[in-house]
Amino acid sequence: MNLQEKIEDLRKRTLSDLLSVADEKTLNNLRTVMLGKKGELTEILKGMKDLTNEERPVIGALANAFRDEFGAKFEAKKLEIEQAVMNAALESESLDVTLPGKAQKKGSRHILTQTQEEIEEIFLGMGYEIVDGYEVETDHYNFERMNLPKDHPARDMQDTFYITNEVLLRTHTSPMQARTMDAHDFSKGGLRMIAPGRVYRRDTDDATHSHQFHQIEGLVVDKNITMADLKGTLDLVMKKMFGQERELRWRPSYFPFTEPSVEVDISCFKCGGKGCNVCKHTGWIEILGAGMVHPNVLEMSGLDSSVYSGFAFGLGQERIAMLRYGINDIRGFYQGDVRFLEQFD
Ligand code: PHE
Repeated sequence: MNLQEKIEDLRKRTLSDLLSVADEKTLNNLRTVMLGKKGELTEILKGMKDLTNEERPVIGALANAFRDEFGAKFEAKKLEIEQAVMNAALESESLDVTLPGKAQKKGSRHILTQTQEEIEEIFLGMGYEIVDGYEVETDHYNFERMNLPKDHPARDMQDTFYITNEVLLRTHTSPMQARTMDAHDFSKGGLRMIAPGRVYRRDTDDATHSHQFHQIEGLVVDKNITMADLKGTLDLVMKKMFGQERELRWRPSYFPFTEPSVEVDISCFKCGGKGCNVCKHTGWIEILGAGMVHPNVLEMSGLDSSVYSGFAFGLGQERIAMLRYGINDIRGFYQGDVRFLEQFD
């Protein structure tokens, strides 16, 4: 074989090898075998020195043409292999975006928490502070400081879980009245606070009773606080909670720690006062207890009741939520049944 034939032979073999190559490694090997230091074409070109002056440019042109052809086909093949690798990867990692997803359950704030936060917002807007109390209280704060001495018959109004003779589960949030008055510096101005929290009573649980429930205590103490302030405040709050068209009705009542004491009814938001099952056909719904802070309660906190006066109220959170959402069994709040709780997302 002369050089020309050798190049032609190498060309045929190499181009057919190139056709069957299917991976990058074999492809690169092929290039080394061809063009590497000891490559076949390299070897052939080494023989050029023995050629005549006439032959040399002819063979040289042939070799260069072949090298260019090989280079171009090599690059094309390389691209083809890379494409195939990419396609295989895409194939194996493919996602079926039409598959139905797995639903994630989203938690939400408990309806009592929502109710509490809504009421807190209203009072924060009126400059009240929010204070936390103790669920385990002393007889002293729960009763005595609320003008209920040890043998007072009104203690029967709130059947109590005693822990010891002096320690109990608070029966209402009212002890926070005494605690905040004790802590407040009246030389810097009056006191406006609400105290939300859990309270306990020895009741047998049924649709309308629970041995634990939630109240929000309210207390305002300053110079010149009158019943008009109480009325104006509760009127505003209740209208925000239940609608501007609501009316309030004030009935005389009795609590040992307020004088005078009132129970406040709201005109029925379901029937507008005509009478329905929500208002038990009276047109009115009892919504809270309130009154002017009893002088004894002020004096026990070291305040001069001829200078200072105040009002207090106690809201039942469950009662408010039950009325607003038409819930007729208080136990729903505590049983943790998500089907019940989800309704209030
Ligand atoms: N503490 C009373 C109760 O639990 C409610 C109340 C609070 C009444 C403040 C008047 C003033 O029934």
